[in-house]
Amino acid sequence: MRTTVGIIGAGPAGLLLARLLRNAGIDSVVLESRDRSYVEHRQRAGILEQGTVDVLRAAGAGERMDREGLRHDGIELRFAGRRHRVDFPALTGGRSVMVYAQTEVCKDLIALQLADGGPLLFEAEALAVEGAETDRPRVRFRRGGPDGAEDVLECDYVVGCDGFWGVARAAVPDGRTFERTYPYGWLGVLADVAPSHDELVYARHDRGFALLSMRSPSVSRLYLQVPADTDADSWSDDEIWAELERRFETRDDWTLDRGPITQKSVTPMRSYVHEPMRHGRLFLAGDAAHIVPPTGAKGLNLAVGDVVTLARALAHRTGGGSDELLDAYSATCLRRVWQAERFSYDMTTLLHRAPGATPFDDRLQLARLDRFASSRAAETDLAEAYTGFPIG
Ligand code: APR
Ligand code: PHB
Repeated sequence: MRTTVGIIGAGPAGLLLARLLRNAGIDSVVLESRDRSYVEHRQRAGILEQGTVDVLRAAGAGERMDREGLRHDGIELRFAGRRHRVDFPALTGGRSVMVYAQTEVCKDLIALQLADGGPLLFEAEALAVEGAETDRPRVRFRRGGPDGAEDVLECDYVVGCDGFWGVARAAVPDGRTFERTYPYGWLGVLADVAPSHDELVYARHDRGFALLSMRSPSVSRLYLQVPADTDADSWSDDEIWAELERRFETRDDWTLDRGPITQKSVTPMRSYVHEPMRHGRLFLAGDAAHIVPPTGAKGLNLAVGDVVTLARALAHRTGGGSDELLDAYSATCLRRVWQAERFSYDMTTLLHRAPGATPFDDRLQLARLDRFASSRAAETDLAEAYTGFPIG
């Protein structure tokens, strides 16, 4: 097989890149190791920054998002029984976010790719990227599952959109990695019950962090901070609801409505950056290059920023331009990545109670939260970061 851009991974990064390249008249092939159902039902992110919404609309992939997505103009910070709403448009000159799950973004992009994009091969596992230093890089892959035949995709460029556990990053020699792991994770549940608040609630409690999010007006998405090695099945539904109620407690009469839990899983927390995000004709985008703890809702949005920057650079080069934008790709993305890493780390340490936290740590967290509730300057920084950094 031969194509201009070989894309490894059909998550948000790989699928959006394929769409942007198709719209720029550049052919690509997407190799995805799992099947379509896995990609379309893997519960992960749920918040789209304003910039991401704009990119999806401009790419012709925003129609169902605009119909079914929920525009949110703020979030609530909850701590010591207090409730403070952060008003995004008032603090950012009109920006908001869209609640629309990455599963839905992937479904929309897969449908478009299958309708009029290039080849999207499911159950096609990339085994290695070879020749990245040459002008003829290639991807060795296996078709049709573990016993399938090996094949080779010849490319002009290869983009690793294969997530944290993919193979592309290994083809970047002498990379530097920067990492922070956390002693806790999130127990996430989907529940068939209307969300008990119309916007997201981020709660800091002495018992630990809790987040109220949603997937639709009738489906709630909720998270509990748990120890990093927690087995999701060790929590009964009643125990989950009872713990959520404790952590969302307020001084007013707000209550948390319960409903049937339909999914339960534990997400580990990690901050990770691989520099550089390029080696020769191999580029890394999305989780293949960087991971953020989900507290800042940045993962998918960072992936979007990477592939918008890369698609622009590839269009410039294949349109007769120089390599200048490709040469600037890694530095351009990393500036935005590190801002998102900083914000995600700050939100995580602000709201989670680490094992061994001292009374001094507790008072410091409450003082940081009180600052957001009492300083326009402080909450403006949060609102600007949460609604999104400009795409380079
Ligand atoms: N060959 C082919 N495909 C692979 C391989 C491989 N060797 N290894 C991994 N993949 C696929 C995975 O099955 C997955 O579908 O690559 C895809 C990577 O997708 P994501 O992990 O979602 O990463 P990315 O597209 O960068 O999305 C980043 O979006 O899902 C949200 O918040 C989440 O931070 C994440 C963000
Ligand atoms: C989600 O809805 O899955 C979600 C929302 C906000 C976050 C993380 C996850 O910060």
